[in-house]
Amino acid sequence: RRLRSVLALDDFEPAARRKLPRPLFGYIAGAAETNSSLKDNRGVFGEWAFRPRYLVDVSRRSMVTSLFGRECSAPFGIAPMGISAMMAYRGDLVLARAARDANIPMIMSGSSLVPLEEVVREAPDSWFQAYLPGEPARIAALVDRVAAAGFRTLVLTVDVTTMGNRENNVRSGFSTPLKPTLRLAWDGAIRPRWLWDTMFRTLRHHGMPHFENSYATRGAPIIARNVERDFGARDHLNWSHLAQIRQRWKGKLVVKGILHGEDARRVHEEGVDGVIVSNHGGRQLDGAISAFRALPEVKSAAGDMVVMMDGGIRRGSDVLKAMALGADFVFVGRPFLYAAAVGAEAGVRHGIEILSSEVDRNLALLGVQRPDEVGMHHLVRVGGVPP
Ligand code: FNR
Repeated sequence: RRLRSVLALDDFEPAARRKLPRPLFGYIAGAAETNSSLKDNRGVFGEWAFRPRYLVDVSRRSMVTSLFGRECSAPFGIAPMGISAMMAYRGDLVLARAARDANIPMIMSGSSLVPLEEVVREAPDSWFQAYLPGEPARIAALVDRVAAAGFRTLVLTVDVTTMGNRENNVRSGFSTPLKPTLRLAWDGAIRPRWLWDTMFRTLRHHGMPHFENSYATRGAPIIARNVERDFGARDHLNWSHLAQIRQRWKGKLVVKGILHGEDARRVHEEGVDGVIVSNHGGRQLDGAISAFRALPEVKSAAGDMVVMMDGGIRRGSDVLKAMALGADFVFVGRPFLYAAAVGAEAGVRHGIEILSSEVDRNLALLGVQRPDEVGMHHLVRVGGVPP
């Protein structure tokens, strides 16, 4: 019933704001410092206009997009998001099942609160995203665990050399370790649906949530994790560690957070299979270039790597603009986590359907049969004149 009023991905946000305690909503919505990257991630799509073509028979159009040998039903997937299980009961499973049923990829976060083994058991095509420290022994142990669990695609996020400056978390009362303050208790108490659906059910069936997936074994509980200690060695991570990971991981390897052509070239030389161009949803270096702006340079440096991107995608038209600029595939973050918070699996399914139907409709309106047929010749800068 709640989902009937959700007509666009952006409609999930106000619904999630009503359902979630303020610190948790703020953790999803927020970014770093003055939010300049966050704003540009959205704004940049408005700088380009379509040049549609007509009188093309588009009756046999298809969104099927091939990605690492898999035929996905749409050219988008679900980006990795930490602590999803605080937002929805078993949030990672919710996202993974909805993606599995829709035949699109879902990337499980390394900062998740559900054991990675459970997710891959239920949704074997899920990808795993790791935060790895510059410590060869820990790298080996975690990579081996991810492989043993049965994941076939590993995503290494490289843009968290240290935590971004997320003042909004301080203002809204979110922190890790999560402090069970009076304020949080009050905030939960006035949102009984969240308290009941998510928190009580979790505590009852699984106990206190733990960071399950940053180590070879279970990590610390969410109310005790010492972020400084966990992040301690991430700022050591360098190219030699990437070489180690490439050597040890036999499946597909993707590097997430690339924004520079030279880095893309080097990543390619290291034998990596794909990159996700991303500024982490504006949550890390504020003022970092938007993935959309960085796409052309990265694409031309990427050789035969698969080039994916995320950040600010909210409409089917955004998906197609990103593909016109060189993306082979895109990922969407926040809206799907809001959807999980609001409507669990049905919510995420609804979100996937909305975006899919927008992509399909826009293919027809643009005059193309398939997403990978969209090119620069379909775009013009707003204010510019077609060649
Ligand atoms: C993230 N992101 C992220 N990225 C990652 O590699 N590992 C992670 O654990 C997380 N955690 C996380 C939590 C939350 C709540 C958000 C919103 C984001 C970044 C994410 O994968 C992606 O890059 C951006 O969210 C994409 O931008 P949009 O679609 O949210 O605008």
